[in-house]
Amino acid sequence: MKDWNTRYAKAGTEPDTRLFGDQPCEYLREVMARSDFRPRSALCLADGDGRNGGWLAEQGLAVTAIDASSVATELALAHDTARGVTVERIVDDLATWSPPPGRTWDAVFLMYLQCEAAVRLHATRTAAAALAPGGWFVAEGFAPAGAGGRSLGPEDPDLLYELGDLLDALPGLEIMEALKGRIRVNEGLRHRGEARIARLLLRRPGAAPE
Ligand SMILES: C[S@@+](CC[C@H](N)C(=O)[O-])C[C@H]1O[C@@H](n2cnc3c(N)ncnc32)[C@H](O)[C@@H]1O
Repeated sequence: MKDWNTRYAKAGTEPDTRLFGDQPCEYLREVMARSDFRPRSALCLADGDGRNGGWLAEQGLAVTAIDASSVATELALAHDTARGVTVERIVDDLATWSPPPGRTWDAVFLMYLQCEAAVRLHATRTAAAALAPGGWFVAEGFAPAGAGGRSLGPEDPDLLYELGDLLDALPGLEIMEALKGRIRVNEGLRHRGEARIARLLLRRPGAAPE
């Protein structure tokens, strides 16, 4: 994870010098505003320097976050302290990480894990298997721009989100939303401009505990 460590080490700690800013993804806020979305615990895959996990913890969720970058995780812990929240942060590679047997979460967030598709889909399957009954899977990431189009995000198609591949990795979950579209982002140093994105919101059948 040398590449990501270097990128995070070069970035600053002020909101507009952080790689992706200090605000959570807009879609994550939208999902949190739904009246039927009431998780108590969340697993944030590839949480980076913690803008999403830290914000979810501020909203009262018990958050576990994984990222392969030790530098990003150190930054995230410092940001958590500044927010006055505690997040369980784990430095690990999602290519091989799996939760302890029996551990479950009410929501999983897969926000902008622009790594090799095989790793992203493996992490998706692993995390979905750890969703509690009634639990939610939330994803957003850069998608292919389409012929002749331009978009923020990596150029290598293997690093981009394909809705079909994600849905295939999530059998048995009910699709609440599956969207492909264009948004304008202005988040920190790296997310600035027009982006073609994919968004997914799915739910495991079963009653969530009240
Ligand atoms: C584009 S950043 C997004 C960070 C965060 N989700 C956000 O939206 O601010 C991608 C993150 O994925 C992490 N990452 C890449 N490959 C990974 C892997 N195999 N296992 C765990 N984390 C990984 C990087 O360290 C980086 O923090």
